[in-house]
Amino acid sequence: MHQPAITGSGVFTPENIITNDELVVAFNAYVDRYNTENAVQIEAGEVEAKAHSSSDFITSASGIEQRHVIDKDGILDPGTMHPLFTPRPDDAPSLMAEMGVKACQQALDMAGKTAADVDTVLCAASNHERAYPAIAIEIQELLGIQGFGFDMNVACSSATFGIQAAADMIKSGSINSALVVNPEICSAHLEWRDRDCHFIFGDVATAVLLERADQAAGPYFAIKSTRCATAFSNNIRNNNGFLRRSHAQMEDRRDMQFMQNGRKVFKEVLPMVSKHIADHMVDENVQASDLKRLWLHQANKTMNDFIGKKVLGRTPEPHEQPNILQDYANTSSAGSIIAFAKYSNDMEDGDTGLICSFGAGYSVGSVILQRVG
Ligand code: COA
Repeated sequence: MHQPAITGSGVFTPENIITNDELVVAFNAYVDRYNTENAVQIEAGEVEAKAHSSSDFITSASGIEQRHVIDKDGILDPGTMHPLFTPRPDDAPSLMAEMGVKACQQALDMAGKTAADVDTVLCAASNHERAYPAIAIEIQELLGIQGFGFDMNVACSSATFGIQAAADMIKSGSINSALVVNPEICSAHLEWRDRDCHFIFGDVATAVLLERADQAAGPYFAIKSTRCATAFSNNIRNNNGFLRRSHAQMEDRRDMQFMQNGRKVFKEVLPMVSKHIADHMVDENVQASDLKRLWLHQANKTMNDFIGKKVLGRTPEPHEQPNILQDYANTSSAGSIIAFAKYSNDMEDGDTGLICSFGAGYSVGSVILQRVG
């Protein structure tokens, strides 16, 4: 059995930023327009009037202060309320592949490796912009990697499930290295017209390079153990899919975008995640006092505060459980990897840390890492 390791990481951050205040101004303009257009039906009790959003609510309920997006104009136009991307011909790089390549290149540079050192590309994300060919294979082609690639989707847990899949292949010897890449265009599946969730998501791409530890060119994080778990729930759901035409559901329907019952998610996912991490630590003989850092999924600050306290048995210091959601919002599978990429360089030889992602499915994945070098 070979020892797998994370030797490099990368984050591609879109330039456009939408602050909570900007978002709320656009949303409230949309609401005013909607209520005016539907004034007669609202008056007759046939249509429900929409309510304004508020920056204070968003910050206090989620901890999110801004989000990066690929297209800002469409989202902030009260007559559009979703991103607008120029369609690309089939012989041009797709948007997801383009973002993914940028994150992968950073991971390779950090590890001191090139495409020639990589055997596999695994594109693990909560949406893929087409059915096939796999985005992973396009990224493989754009980077000039031999070997193979495939796409996988476990929603917000895609990155940790992808790391487990790649780590297991390295352990067994079927591959020596893999890029696990998470291009997340969350702005395209978010319902920006829904006050309950319009603030939740942002866009980003992350990547990690996994290699056999004995092939690392510099310091690395040994992957000591991984654990994945799922339990079916409809509380986070998106009904968009290839049967849409066959179901005669081509109209603009609410259930074709991200939907969630946020309160239930909170109540059900928190105990699931806390127990998952606790059991993983017991089985791997990792004590709370051994953990130098927690890189958690970035959906909600209160959720992370709760999990951090449960895992460490005390309130974590900010540097022990770094949050990035104030700057990026929820970026689905990429969130815990942004936290890892931005807050891991200061770890010292022998330090232990844990990545944990969780979300739709329900799904939860944890990765125990130890810094070497
Ligand atoms: N602006 C102002 N008020 C708002 C609002 C907005 N944008 N959105 C909702 N409200 C109101 C609600 O109408 C409700 O009013 P009421 O008490 O009069 O009924 C009140 O604020 C509380 O709403 P609620 O939806 O219960 O808020 P919450 O505290 O649960 O926070 C989330 C909402 C989404 C931030 C929170 O539930 C959450 O983060 N859940 C888990 C998310 C998660 O992990 N998802 C995984 C996705 S990958």
